[in-house]
Amino acid sequence: MKRIGMLTSGGDCQALNAAMRGVVKTLHNSKEEVEIFGFLSGYKGLIYSNFRMLTSRDFSGILTKGGTILGSSRTPFKTITEPDENGVDKIEAMKHTYHKLNLDCLVILGGNGTHKTANLLRKEGLNVITLPKTIDNDLWGTDMTFGFQSAVDIATNVIDCIHTTADSHGRVFIVEVMGHKAGWLTLNAGMASGADIILIPEIPYKIDKVISAIKKREESGSRFTILAVAEGAISAEDAKLSKKDYKKKLEKRTYPSVSYEVAAQIEEKTGLEVRVTVPGHMQRGGSPCPYDRVFASRLGSEAGKLILKDEYGFMVGYKNREIVKVPLEDVAGKLKMVSPDATIVKEAKMLGICFGD
Ligand code: F6P
Repeated sequence: MKRIGMLTSGGDCQALNAAMRGVVKTLHNSKEEVEIFGFLSGYKGLIYSNFRMLTSRDFSGILTKGGTILGSSRTPFKTITEPDENGVDKIEAMKHTYHKLNLDCLVILGGNGTHKTANLLRKEGLNVITLPKTIDNDLWGTDMTFGFQSAVDIATNVIDCIHTTADSHGRVFIVEVMGHKAGWLTLNAGMASGADIILIPEIPYKIDKVISAIKKREESGSRFTILAVAEGAISAEDAKLSKKDYKKKLEKRTYPSVSYEVAAQIEEKTGLEVRVTVPGHMQRGGSPCPYDRVFASRLGSEAGKLILKDEYGFMVGYKNREIVKVPLEDVAGKLKMVSPDATIVKEAKMLGICFGD
């Protein structure tokens, strides 16, 4: 008999349900008897012992369903060791729930912050297996996270739609793509949709280079220009500031986001009409794309296999086209960023895409 606790933490994404279904189906198809405890709303469910017993019926028909049947929430790692507003020690409370329910392990689905807490629980002696979710694709130790390809599809569709209206009106369009720290989503959706300019956090931009790229297109007879701009895109000037000073500057920024600031600068310096589109959380919503359904199912299945072998303390990831297990201590606290020297960036530049550098 295996008693498994499961939770989804942090910002949701597509294929969370597919991944959980993969774990549970694998376990149910083995000879092992299993009991699944689903903790509700992320780590909160584990802290406050808020859970539901789940049967195989709960996992039926959810392969294609977006969101998470368990609900999610953000429980910042920064304050995880601080007591809550009622003085509850969150780490001790999670350990208490785990031991009270006599669990064999926890299956935790999440991104960066979630992995830091999962590693802490591992260090506290709990058996933990994690699965890498995030549309940002910025988790270290895996070439891909689930949710990413679905979000690429959505952001690409947005930019595709923008192309036709930009062409009709001869406008400059900025599509702001999610990703505060990493530019994977912007880079991939931008390339997939033929964006002319891609601005990502890892490659600070110079506004003059952006303007030159727009003018060059105009001079060559193009009626419009499309920019894919990551939420966390940063100018070369701002990138020189300390983290503290940049934060202070952002607090004073009168524009809702970087895209609006870039839009105003383009309008001022070119006189062209600029529009901004922000698809926002749409990028995390809806059904997982077929790739993510298969990918998350495979990761889930591997997690099930590890549980059956009592192998804990790993994230199940993807490296060089293989599903792999990566020690949690190696994953926690590290981000996987786009390298400005990456081959994909060089190839994009050869295609004529401007990164503003
Ligand atoms: O989960 C990742 C992410 O979607 C980022 O791309 C985005 O910057 C952030 O979450 C938005 O967070 P929230 O849902 O808390 O507004």
